[in-house]
Formats: sequence, C-alpha cells, structure tokens
Amino acid sequence: MLLKNLRDEIGATLARDPAARSRLEVVLCYPGFHALLYYRMAHWLWVRGWSLSGRFVSHVGRMLTGIEIHPGARIGRRLFIDHGMGVVIGETAELGDDCTLYHGVTLGGTRPSKEEGGKKRHPTIGNDVIVGSGAQVLGPIRVGDGARIGAAAVVVKEVPDGATMVGNPARQVGRRSAPGEAPPVFEPYGISVEIPDPIARALNGLLDEVSSLRARVSELDRAQEPSPADDGAAAAEPVRRRVARAQP
Ligand SMILES: CC(C)(COP(=O)(O)OP(=O)(O)OC[C@H]1O[C@@H](n2cnc3c(N)ncnc32)[C@H](O)[C@@H]1OP(=O)(O)O)[C@@H](O)C(=O)NCCC(=O)NCCS
Repeated sequence: MLLKNLRDEIGATLARDPAARSRLEVVLCYPGFHALLYYRMAHWLWVRGWSLSGRFVSHVGRMLTGIEIHPGARIGRRLFIDHGMGVVIGETAELGDDCTLYHGVTLGGTRPSKEEGGKKRHPTIGNDVIVGSGAQVLGPIRVGDGARIGAAAVVVKEVPDGATMVGNPARQVGRRSAPGEAPPVFEPYGISVEIPDPIARALNGLLDEVSSLRARVSELDRAQEPSPADDGAAAAEPVRRRVARAQP
C-alpha cells in the first residue's frame, strides 16, 4: 500500500510538473516527494501513539526539505508539492486526493489553543485543489473540491467547490467547474488552458496583417487599370504617380 502510494505520487509529479522528465529525477530531485516520504513515516508513528518519534521524523524532513508537515495532518493520495520551500501544513489540516501546493503555502490555524478553539484548528482541503505560491489558508474552513487559490491569496472563509479565489482577503473571481461537476483536468499553475498561447497569438496577428496587405494590393491593382473613360492621357501617366493619387 505504502509503495503504491509512493508510486502514484511519483506519477502525479511527472504528470503535473512540466519540468519533470523522469521518475528517477522525481525520486532524486523533488523536495515535495521527499517531504511526503518523511510525512508518511511520521504519520505512521503518530497514529500509533509514538508522537515524539513522529515529531522528530517530521522535524528531520523539515530540515532537509524546507517543508513542514505535522505528522497529525491527514493527507490524501497523489499530493504534489512543487518547489516546496516554506510550505507549512498544520496538525489538524486535512487534504483530499490529487491536490497541488506550490511553495510558501500555509494551511494554518487561527485558534490559539486546542482548549479555546476546539480540536480542529486548520483547514480541510477537498480533492483536486490547486493552491498557488505563498497562499495562506487559515482556520478550520473548508476549501471545496476543484477550487483554485491564487498566488499570495489569504483565505479565511469557506471556498465553494470549483471556485477561483484571489487577493487578501480572498474574493471569488471565477469558477473552474460547477459544483457536482467532474473535476477539471489539471492545469499547471492553475492557469486556464483557454488562454491563447503566445505563438498562436503571433500567428493570428500575422494572418490579420497579410489579409489587410492583400486588400491594399488589390486596391492598388484596381487603381492601375485604365478606366474606359480615359482618353489615353491616363495611360501615358506614370504608374507610380497614379498609385500615389489613389492613396488616401
Ligand atoms: C488565481 C489563478 C489560478 C487564476 O488564473 P486564471 O483563471 O487564468 O485567472 P485570470 O488570469 O483570468 O485572472 C482573473 C482575475 O484575477 C486576477 N488575479 C489572478 N491571479 C491573481 C492573484 N494571484 N492575486 C490577485 N489577483 C489575481 C487577475 O488580475 C484577473 O483580474 P481582473 O478580472 O480584474 O482582470 C492564477 O492567476 C494563479 O495565481 N495561479 C497560481 C500560480 C502560481 O502559484 N505559480 C507558482 C508557480 S512556481
């Protein structure tokens, strides 16, 4: 089971990071993957009551990867943490399957202590959620399935399924998928695939330019043809002068 999870996590990294080239590269060079290894060990110890050992393993993972995941957090399958440095996932945070976190994300608490705030202090993140770099998701709130949290957003209220949230405090600027709909395909950096790519945009510009040049050339061709009313003087007039006259 553990091995299958790890295999899936390597596959998720390969599928979601345009820069990843091979499974070996993921295993050797991805701190997000290493952090998950430490987390899985730490969580295994934590749920068996070896809390200090769990904290220690988690601390070693943090020193080596810059990613701090509390061993008590509950993390679903195929989490991908890209870059990773500065990610903090608190003790009572929960993440569904197929989530993506970029560097500097905090899934943090807002209640000062278990006594004052109850047991749940950190957010619950649904399935297929993308959280942009530096975003802060704070408190025991729910982020719905398929939601996108923009880079540097500060989210302190519930996020509906499929919503796109940006800013501080975060506001909804769009919807990636309607509630209840199948989760959308993963888009690197959360950026919509509908955005025209720059090469297509440049080609479209060139095509527009070519068709306006064509129209101009046929206008000039027409201007060169002698009209039947011409008495021959026009034919004798140099073409360049007639073209110049035809121009607006
Ligand atoms: C939030 C996000 C997912 C939205 O992507 P999108 O659906 O393509 O949205 P758009 O670019 O059309 O932006 C919609 C609006 O939100 C604003 N916006 C987008 N991202 C924003 C952000 N992070 N903070 C503040 N405003 C943001 C846009 O300016 C635009 O505002 P407007 O309608 O007033 O012009 C994306 O911008 C984002 O932040 N992705 C995370 C990227 C990231 O973390 N990269 C790190 C890689 S190392």
